[in-house]
This record gives sequence, C-alpha cells and structure tokens, in this order.
Amino acid sequence: MRAEGAVAGEFILDIQAMTKRFGGVTAVNNCSIRVPRNIVAGLIGPNGSGKTTLFNLLTGLLRSDGGDYFYKGEPMVGLTPHEIFNRGISRTFQIIRVFREMTALENLVAVSRDGDLGGVRRRALELLDFVTLLRLKDEYAGNLSYGQQKLLEFVRALMSDPEVLLLDEPAAGVNRTLLNTLLDRIRQLRGQGKSILIVEHDMKVVMNHCEKIFVLDYGELIAEGLPEEIQRNEQVIEAYFGHK
Ligand SMILES: Nc1ncnc2c1ncn2[C@@H]1O[C@H](COP(=O)(O)OP(=O)(O)O)[C@@H](O)[C@H]1O
Ligand SMILES: [Mg+2]
Repeated sequence: MRAEGAVAGEFILDIQAMTKRFGGVTAVNNCSIRVPRNIVAGLIGPNGSGKTTLFNLLTGLLRSDGGDYFYKGEPMVGLTPHEIFNRGISRTFQIIRVFREMTALENLVAVSRDGDLGGVRRRALELLDFVTLLRLKDEYAGNLSYGQQKLLEFVRALMSDPEVLLLDEPAAGVNRTLLNTLLDRIRQLRGQGKSILIVEHDMKVVMNHCEKIFVLDYGELIAEGLPEEIQRNEQVIEAYFGHK
C-alpha cells in the first residue's frame, strides 16, 4: 500500500502515527510528520522530547510500537537499517561515531560496500574537499578537532549519495568557521534536490536555515510551520520555557 499524497511526490517522508515506548516512557507518541521533498527542515524540541528516537525509528535502528512510515510512497517499517540506507536515507549521530584509529579518508572508504575501490576513493576525496578537509585526508580521525570530526561524519553520510539526510545535532560544539561551512554545504545539497532533516538546538541555525520546522514535546508533534510561525507559537514557547 502506498501512502496517500506521496504518490505525487510531494512528501519524501510520510510518518504516520509512529510510537515508541521504553518501559513506562513513551519516547515517540503517535507522531505524524510529512517532510516535503527537497527541503531543509528542522526537528526541534526540549531534551528528551524524542528527536533522536524518531531518527532511530526512521533508520531502522529501533522497531516502532505502532504507526507507519513511507519514503517516496514506499512502506519502510520492518526494513533493516542496511535496507533503509540502501534505499537512500542516511544519517549522522548526535554522539560522533567516527573511527578514531582510521584516517579521515579511510573513514569514508570504509562505509562503502561498492566493489569499485577506485571510484569509492575518488568520491571520498571529493567529499573531503567538499568540506575543506582534503589536506587532512591522511590524518587519524581521532586527531581532528571536534568540529572537523563532525564534518567528517557529515560527509561520511553522503558517501552513499542519499536522497534524504538526517542530521542529529550537527552544529553542536562546532566553531563558527566550520559551522558556516556546514550550513553552506547543506544549502548546496538542497540545491542538488536532496531533502535534509536537522535536529538542532541552536535556534539561530534553525530559524535562519530551515524552511519548515517540526516541534516535538514529550514525543508528540505539538507544532509545525514556517520559522516565523514557530517562533511565536504559544505552545512551543511553553514547551521550551514552561517546563519545570
Ligand atoms: N534506549 C533507550 N532506553 C530507554 N529510554 C530511552 C532510550 N532512548 C531514549 N530514551 C528515553 O526516551 C526519551 C526521548 O529520548 P531522545 O529520543 O534521546 O530525546 P531527544 O533526542 O529529543 O533529546 C527520553 O525520555 C529518553 O530518556
Ligand atoms: Mg537527541
């Protein structure tokens, strides 16, 4: 069964009433989100509101307790992380997962299951260049600055040339120069037709760089809209400042 509306290609991700519980905690609660195609969208909400859990559901790392989700109209629930990745959904992690004992270049080459090593290496070098890390290609990832490691993880997620990119707090702890590089590259990917969903705490980044924003609170979608709509949404303000 294909998702309604997605057939026309309007929504790249169509999340329908997804739920995830951990014991007594409902981390994601009956959450429905439609992400338009070719957009930079933000996913925000207080700590513990379920943002990372939702990414884990979308990438198959966690099995949902209910609900459905469609990518380009195709049902995705039940697929393995590998299958989801191969379909074109890639991500970064809130806590960096680069291989510290591998060089920057090796980190990128390692994710590819493609047989053509020459092609993989070329793509890896291009991507390192894309985020100004080419001169550090032979440096151990563990020796890179925190911000450089985050950029490395960002381009590692691009090795598969995904159509959807899920970024979990990509800007946290990244200095201004590298942050500007990251934001510029996100814009470029948007220009290439990709859809990017960003979890981010830095409100300046969210408000200035996201075209549409989804707000979670206690695992529920409490608001969605344009940045200026979200900024003056009472429920959002309450979620951020009203919590004890
Ligand atoms: N693996 C887990 N086991 C138990 N509880 C979890 C697990 N992952 C997340 N949670 C809980 O689910 C809720 C949502 O967490 P999370 O998705 O990490 O929020 P966010 O990314 O918005 O900060 C929190 O209450 C958190 O403690
Ligand atoms: Mg998180």
